[in-house]
Amino acid sequence: MRMSVEQALNQRGSVAIYPARVATGEQPGRMANRAIFQPRRRSINFRTMALLNILNYPDKRLHKVAKPVEKVDDRIRKLVADMAETMYAAPGVGLAATQVDVHERVIVIDVSDTHEELRAFINPEIIWSSDERKIHEEGCLSVPGIYDNVERAEKVRVRALNEKGETYELDCDGLLAVCIQHEMDHLMGKVFVEYLSPLKQTRIKSKMKKLAHAM
Ligand code: NI
Repeated sequence: MRMSVEQALNQRGSVAIYPARVATGEQPGRMANRAIFQPRRRSINFRTMALLNILNYPDKRLHKVAKPVEKVDDRIRKLVADMAETMYAAPGVGLAATQVDVHERVIVIDVSDTHEELRAFINPEIIWSSDERKIHEEGCLSVPGIYDNVERAEKVRVRALNEKGETYELDCDGLLAVCIQHEMDHLMGKVFVEYLSPLKQTRIKSKMKKLAHAM
């Protein structure tokens, strides 16, 4: 996902991270609060990264449905590192593997200004979403120059694996909630413009085709 200037100025998602404890029946407690102001340091090795090519809408490969990752190994860690570099270089706040033509359930997100809150979401699932919905302006690295409003759940709780293969859960709101829902759509083969009217989608397609010819 790409942020518009307005989003960059106005919207900060707050983050609570804690290990998965749902199975034990424990409720997330103070631990969640403690982690809010302690963004994880990058544990991803950035030395051997490569920039990946981002597919542009309306490329048909953006509509492929990603498969679950079977094992979080060095191949996946390399993918995560390369996706992170590609996202930061774009610049963007989120990237799904689908967008770099890898059809496995891997997402990277960093909605911080400082590039210190990089997270990998491997095999992500939304395990709870709020009834309250909110409209945000979204952009996408696969649809350059296009920003439009999309309504989504205001808050979601996500369960995923990190790059070490550990399960974690994350409560997301604000921009982070928008971003995770946007990226999870990519893994299902859905691009945010598909929420817009057919007329808008036709216009965007023709704009993208002109852009592709101009490059
Ligand atoms: Ni996108």
